[in-house]
Amino acid sequence: MIKLKGVSKAYGQALALHRSDLALARGATTVLIGPSGCGKSTLLRIVVGLVAPTTGQVFFDGHQLTAANMRSVRLRTGYVIQKGGLFPHMTAEANVTLMARHLRWDATRIGERLTELADLVHLPHACLRRYPIRLSGGECQRVSIMRALFLDPDVLLMDEPLGALDPMIRFGLQEELRSICRALEKTVLLVTHDMAEAAFFGDTIVLIRAGRIVQQGTIEDLMQRPANDFVQSFMRAQRGLRQWK
Ligand SMILES: Nc1ncnc2c1ncn2[C@@H]1O[C@H](COP(=O)(O)OP(=O)(O)O)[C@@H](O)[C@H]1O
Ligand SMILES: [Mg+2]
Repeated sequence: MIKLKGVSKAYGQALALHRSDLALARGATTVLIGPSGCGKSTLLRIVVGLVAPTTGQVFFDGHQLTAANMRSVRLRTGYVIQKGGLFPHMTAEANVTLMARHLRWDATRIGERLTELADLVHLPHACLRRYPIRLSGGECQRVSIMRALFLDPDVLLMDEPLGALDPMIRFGLQEELRSICRALEKTVLLVTHDMAEAAFFGDTIVLIRAGRIVQQGTIEDLMQRPANDFVQSFMRAQRGLRQWK
């Protein structure tokens, strides 16, 4: 569904992403994981066309991403921005329905989709009338996910959508989000820094270090056949309850 070919990104002298190839299978969930600052958000922004790569090409459903087809690709892509990225001056409802209103969907269709999605992410309907500042972190994340899903995109890109949530809400939302991804058969690219979450979601896990993909595979591949010492230490650093003492 999505292919990156020789894609890199330089900010001045610094390479945020070294030349990378990556393919996202249709209907599968791919998880990007790696230390803070390794280039995960940069990669996502390149896929969504918000950042132009310094080298390389991005292909979306067989077509190279260009300035000319960017808009139609965007409409087929839901993007959950890191930290939610809700517009503070708009109610939750206005945030969620922004694109549909822009595309002149009629009010009935918008209302139905709103109800459907609020139910899907278990957001109390009263929250929709509030501004983001009057919503909890978990509610804001749900609103961001609703906004990303509103146009029923083929591709869902989520940048740490469950970051900074308290553990019980996070646990519940992980379950919900995974069943949403599976039920809707979307091509999903999810960023996290939590390996347990990566394993829970990902058909494929892509481990990045300092702008380079160091290994991609299943959780078993990463655990049992680490490509190098970094992968091994990264996996070991994920403390499970069993290693508690
Ligand atoms: N707009 C920008 N200008 C300059 N440097 C940037 C910009 N965006 C990101 N970077 C740098 O690129 C690197 C990768 O950032 P990012 O993709 O946000 O990492 P991650 O999401 O993995 O934490 C970091 O060193 C960051 O400081
Ligand atoms: Mg990031």
